[in-house]
Amino acid sequence: MSGTSLDGVDAALVDFSGHMPQTLATHYAPFEASLCAELSALQSPGENELHRSALASNQLVRAYADAVCALLLHADIDASAVEAVGAHGQTVRHRPELGFTLQLNNPALLAELSGIAVVADFRSRDVAAGGQGAPLVPAFHRAVFGSPDRNRVVVNIGGIANISYLPARGETAGFDTGPGNVLMDLWISRVLRRPYDASGDWASTGAVLPELLARFISEPYFSQAPPKSTGRDLFHAAWLDQHLTGNENVADVQATLCALSARTITNAIRQCADHDLPLEGFVCGGGAHNRFLAGLLADAAPDCAWGRTDDLGVPADWVEAVAFAWMAYQFIERRPANAPQVTGAKGTRLLGAIYPA
Ligand SMILES: Nc1ncnc2c1ncn2[C@@H]1O[C@H](COP(=O)(O)OP(=O)(O)O)[C@@H](O)[C@H]1O
Ligand SMILES: [Mg+2]
Repeated sequence: MSGTSLDGVDAALVDFSGHMPQTLATHYAPFEASLCAELSALQSPGENELHRSALASNQLVRAYADAVCALLLHADIDASAVEAVGAHGQTVRHRPELGFTLQLNNPALLAELSGIAVVADFRSRDVAAGGQGAPLVPAFHRAVFGSPDRNRVVVNIGGIANISYLPARGETAGFDTGPGNVLMDLWISRVLRRPYDASGDWASTGAVLPELLARFISEPYFSQAPPKSTGRDLFHAAWLDQHLTGNENVADVQATLCALSARTITNAIRQCADHDLPLEGFVCGGGAHNRFLAGLLADAAPDCAWGRTDDLGVPADWVEAVAFAWMAYQFIERRPANAPQVTGAKGTRLLGAIYPA
């Protein structure tokens, strides 16, 4: 898995033979600076995109293959013992309203390099069926984190944040709430040349600016009814800049961006779970390490008992990687893996395509 943060590759080796998925090994490899820069550049229109995308896909897949290799070495397991690799690819455009979502990938090369069958292209069938193709993780969250007697919400804070609402009784709901880390990462890298705000320590030195927060929240995406999903197509540097006067204290901007993530997440929870409060909240994704954000979430949603997915058996950093292993497993078993009430697709669909070993 590699997500909108463009931080690197998360790999998980998962055994699905038991009742619950069992994670046997994990491996994280940050992207090389050149790959990160090119993937970042390819997020917006530029020269000779087709050629550059093909080369970037190959470089990305070499990073995926290295991660698979490291994982197998670490677990002391032979490639022949692995049924499939689920490879999400790198999203460079997400425009379901125009009928497409585009992930850079080269599953054929990954099958060739790893010697393992590859399942890829998880999103496009849902989009073909009229859905958003995102978020896909709520179906996995329901299968693994759902409870027959607790109302739960899982909050995945990657570059973009999404929630999965898992009531004890009733239907799973979920959507992308908007920026998770993407704008905080953009701002700190511009001002302090650091890739992210570790623990939210810099944000915690600033003050949340109510007027700026209100300007951010006036973005129509936040009041749009689900199904909805978003990405860097909307939440990019120009989006941030159009809301700034230029006179703000830089740490205050960081604190306010963190408050934007927290507020849009808690508004989304309230919208889904209105009648089912109190409930249990479980955070995952890299944003689970942001202590300032955790504090803002707890303040804004005091009816929620907050924890991390670690409490439910899957460490916060590995939920998405395990989720896409699960997606591959669903495909191999020919079971649909979308939640149409979440994505808006016309019905359940098999997600993915296979490239045999
Ligand atoms: N220690 C930390 N403190 C605060 N934020 C962190 C920390 N570690 C990672 N992050 C954030 O998490 C992001 C990566 O999260 P991830 O779940 O991989 O997102 P994505 O799926 O979009 O790649 C980083 O870009 C960073 O913003
Ligand atoms: Mg990541």
